[in-house]
Amino acid sequence: MQIQDIYHVVEKDFEQANQLITSQLSSDVPLVEKIAEYIIESGGKRLRPLLVLLVCGALGYRGQQHVKLATVIEFLHTATLLHDDVVDTSDLRRGRSTANAKWGNAPSVLVGDFLYARAFQMMVELKSLDIMHTLAEATKVIAEGEVFQLTNCKNPDITEENYFNVIRNKTAMLFEAAASSAANLSDADKKTHAALTEYGLQLGLAFQLVDDMLDYTGNAETMGKNVGDDLAEGKPTLPLIQAMKTASETDRKLIRKAIRSGETAKLDQICQIVKACGALDYTQEAALRCQRAALTSLNVVPDSEYKKALIGLANLAVSRDK
Ligand code: IPE
Ligand code: IPE
Ligand code: MG
Ligand code: MG
Repeated sequence: MQIQDIYHVVEKDFEQANQLITSQLSSDVPLVEKIAEYIIESGGKRLRPLLVLLVCGALGYRGQQHVKLATVIEFLHTATLLHDDVVDTSDLRRGRSTANAKWGNAPSVLVGDFLYARAFQMMVELKSLDIMHTLAEATKVIAEGEVFQLTNCKNPDITEENYFNVIRNKTAMLFEAAASSAANLSDADKKTHAALTEYGLQLGLAFQLVDDMLDYTGNAETMGKNVGDDLAEGKPTLPLIQAMKTASETDRKLIRKAIRSGETAKLDQICQIVKACGALDYTQEAALRCQRAALTSLNVVPDSEYKKALIGLANLAVSRDK
């Protein structure tokens, strides 16, 4: 199943969500509107809104609030991207200059705050304390994940366990919250709610594991963001953590030095090392375990085209190149 086939399953809802996403950015302050529109209209895969719509479809939701929920989640995601690109000093996102590269850090951070605020305003309109609880908690956890990662930058001694804590918080949490709040909106029973929450978590973990591989193996043009950004920030992701366990002493020293200095001069060499020593395969296997766990948790969901698309989404998370 290709991504287009997955979009197709919720085509009308997805179209409505995209319209709502672009229509909710008005502001009296021109620069707010300009930057918010710039990042929103540059596209992105819209995977999290897709997840919301698919879960609602799979659980037979009949109302109209799912389109708003999808929008809220995309705004939360976009706010994290604006902040993340400042923190990571990234200059390419969604195939364009990042907002921070174009307008500077201060406006990017502040417009990120604006998007959080818009997300929370729309969330209130959903009138569900359960959903507000889930999304407020997720927003907090994402911020903690990003800060925890920051404190581990340039630290070659981070454990695999702490790496997983980082990716669970900074990335998987929003996928989890998207699936969980969509299940809430659909009045799912406890068991189904728990299963879809788990699906979101495992999907998010798989997604970030693959993202961390693509930072060494991907193509900037396809991904719309730069390769080697993680190394440039001295970010010890799983490919490096595993390589430091299995590569030769010389290679291990080289990687430690690169993490400590955030130096990309040896990027090509490090790409070779993570591949040759099996660290990329190791990361891929970890992603596949999460993908399988995601699929298993769908067992309680009745068969439908939506369920097929949720299966497709989990498969896509581990086979994607962008
Ligand atoms: C980027 O997420 C941030 C990560 C969690 C790796 P996406 O890859 O979903 O970003 P867009 O929305 O498609 O640009
Ligand atoms: C993704 O962080 C998580 C958030 C944006 C909160 P990354 O820094 O790993 O993602 P990219 O590579 O910039 O998209
Ligand atoms: Mg980043
Ligand atoms: Mg980051």
